[in-house]
Amino acid sequence: MIETRAPGKLFIVGEYAVVEAGEPAVLVSVDRLLHVRLTERDAPVACGASEHVLAAIRAVDELRAHRGLPERHFEIETESELEDERGRKFGLGSSAAVTVAVVEALDRLHGLGLDPVERFRLALLATIEVSPRASGGDLASSTFGGWILYRSPDRAELRAHRAAHGIASALVCDAWRRCEVRRLPAPRDLELLVGWTGSPASTRQLVDGVSPQQPAAPLDQPAFLAASRDCVEALAGALERGGGGADALRAIREARGLLRRLGDARGIEIETEMLRDLCDIAERRGAAAKPSGAGGGDCGIALAPSGSDIQGILREWEHRGIRRLQLGVHAAPVFAEGGADER
Ligand code: PMV
Repeated sequence: MIETRAPGKLFIVGEYAVVEAGEPAVLVSVDRLLHVRLTERDAPVACGASEHVLAAIRAVDELRAHRGLPERHFEIETESELEDERGRKFGLGSSAAVTVAVVEALDRLHGLGLDPVERFRLALLATIEVSPRASGGDLASSTFGGWILYRSPDRAELRAHRAAHGIASALVCDAWRRCEVRRLPAPRDLELLVGWTGSPASTRQLVDGVSPQQPAAPLDQPAFLAASRDCVEALAGALERGGGGADALRAIREARGLLRRLGDARGIEIETEMLRDLCDIAERRGAAAKPSGAGGGDCGIALAPSGSDIQGILREWEHRGIRRLQLGVHAAPVFAEGGADER
């Protein structure tokens, strides 16, 4: 039996903008894991796997066949820490985590000897067959761990390249040129608080901007991208300087405002009432907060400097029905050798 696991993730800043190739986001991977158990079988096993798992199986199998390795049969079981007691997802990227963990399990089954960058690329090639616009930030976070700055590759070009030339060629093609994964130091003197507001949102629907509501204000897309980039670079710079608490807090607040304006312009509710309360409670008690990810429910994050009233924030969150997720950072073993930058 082969056992693999991959962590969930949280977006810190850069959501939506990161969907555009080359635009950056900051993410952190969390110490809640998705476990995969793969057992080899003598004959094909019918399985009710998700579309993400099936896409991962297809992608790895295409590479196996390309390398002339024999076909193998297997059964895959998964177990997730990324949901509550009732099976409701926290929005911590379970589809990405399962994709990453399945790719790694199949890599081991077939003895492909893939490195983390290749596994991340395969996971993204698989994912964009299911969600063509997905940035892959969640896959990078699940693969590499820790705090990262991520820039997405051109996924339309990747899909076209795979369709025309196959997966082995797509793994090394030029469409990756704008992709970057850069390790960031964890913030010092800032505590990351995570609150779950329930009601998981449909990320795909939000990203596609499908909504019955009417746009309330036009969006200047280049200005949105530039402002988001500024937030990401300000936060990354603050972390890299090893402190910069005030700059990091400003970046989070600015990013919240950007997401609000984006939601208004697209007529989608990124910051729900619960998320608004989550953020306002944190702000009133000295932290900086914003929705994390596509919004519309799921998680909000707060960065709380020393001196902010963390206990008060948590008390008020609980009172408002916001569940605190006690999450630590999943360490970044891949970067431990200092050489895994994907660029
Ligand atoms: O809702 P989440 O945590 O899956 O995050 C979605 C983030 C987006 O930027 C909106 C989409 C993406 O693929 O990056």
